[in-house]
Amino acid sequence: MAHYLPLSRVARLVGVSRAELQRMVRNGEMDTYDGQVDMAELLRVFPAVHWEDDGEYARVEEIKRKAFGKRIMDRVLPDKEVLAERLFELGKEFAGAKSLLLHYDQIFGWLNWKLDEVAEDDRASADALMSIKIWLRQQLDAAPDEAARGKALLAEESVMRVMAARVLVQPSGHEFFVEGNDTILEAALKAGIPLNYGCSNGNCGDCKVRLLSGQVRKVHPHDFPIKEAEKSAGAFLMCSYAPITDIEIEAGVSGAEDIPRQEVTTKVKWIERLNDDLIALHLTTPRSKRLRFLAGQYVTLEAGGASADHYVASCPCDDRQLSLHVRRDNRPFARKVFDDLRKEDVVNLSGPAGRFVFNMESRAPVLFIAFEEAFAPINSLIQHAMSLELSEAMHLLWVAEAGGHYRDNLCRSWADAYDNFRYLPLVRQGDMPASADILAEFPDLSGFEVYAAGPEAFIRGLKLAALAAGLPESRWHGEIVL
Ligand code: FES
Repeated sequence: MAHYLPLSRVARLVGVSRAELQRMVRNGEMDTYDGQVDMAELLRVFPAVHWEDDGEYARVEEIKRKAFGKRIMDRVLPDKEVLAERLFELGKEFAGAKSLLLHYDQIFGWLNWKLDEVAEDDRASADALMSIKIWLRQQLDAAPDEAARGKALLAEESVMRVMAARVLVQPSGHEFFVEGNDTILEAALKAGIPLNYGCSNGNCGDCKVRLLSGQVRKVHPHDFPIKEAEKSAGAFLMCSYAPITDIEIEAGVSGAEDIPRQEVTTKVKWIERLNDDLIALHLTTPRSKRLRFLAGQYVTLEAGGASADHYVASCPCDDRQLSLHVRRDNRPFARKVFDDLRKEDVVNLSGPAGRFVFNMESRAPVLFIAFEEAFAPINSLIQHAMSLELSEAMHLLWVAEAGGHYRDNLCRSWADAYDNFRYLPLVRQGDMPASADILAEFPDLSGFEVYAAGPEAFIRGLKLAALAAGLPESRWHGEIVL
């Protein structure tokens, strides 16, 4: 009996990124059916992944002791009604599997009896029929290693399904998991998926989507009315519902032009000195008013009457935490940050603005290029791309003066942690290096998306060099950062 798993679940089970799994599928190293992996195929491709079978794996306590299970159990349990329904659904599935096994058992009994009957009628074939019976019994009794590993894998996967339901967004194809008490909207925002929404509390109707498959349950009441005809077509509000099973929804993903300007009062969480001339300002938004933005956008900050525009350096998936990089100069806001801003001080924020955002439709390899502290929007884009596994391969070229790669360790840790991430720091001596030298390692950019941020001369030169290396103009994303 085939048991299929989506790639996103396989990634969680075996601890391999979805991008890596997609690469294996493309190279013919793993077969999929309709984008899903059969469990037998999963066991074949990952023979070294062990779900130890000590005969007691069915007990949740046993699963908790194992590393992966522990990670699951450390998370917040879903709402109790959602949990009950998920267990009920799982119970139904196992009841179905059990009755199918009983049916097979009956067929085996009948086959056994039939073989006896034929042997009695035909003494000449009796020995041959007996050897078939013995072979059949041996096959049934000898549970192969694969079956034991498969059983353990199924147990792990079942716990995962109870703890986290998968949401597939159509037509964009984005996926995320809903864990704990989160609504579908909260989980999407934590994953950094820019779905349309407004009030977050059931009043505006902006988060209305259509359920294409699976089951959801209302976990918060909402005032926004949904007509019966819409309800029967599957309409529901993401901010009021949680999934019972894995679901597929039809929902619009926001572009930069869809996100309204917001005013948010934040507090300083931490002032981090990156070097003598650069500070990372870490802010926290109120629980009730998070900033809705896309990676690569900038905001206006105001503190003590001084204001300035800065790119958000953190990922939209960081929930209430925002980070921005501020360089020391003579402007009032920079002076304020360097001289007297303190933890817990208020910083007013308005925004977001800018269209230097990720092309969510593309899965092409990406080349990011940053100049000095124009690394901030690139940092946000990279973290967002990693969190959504938007690209199969990412390369970062960071041009800075000696000592100017102020997040060098972070970039190196990305390169260590991700097989598909490459970091190339370039040290410039005084003058800006020639664009052709910067792109020397990328003679053919025809299959890439390129995102570059820096001063105007840098961006203009790079664009010409990138197009000369075969980059289609539609895949060039340049941001002039002053
Ligand atoms: S965001 Fe307003 S109703 Fe859901």
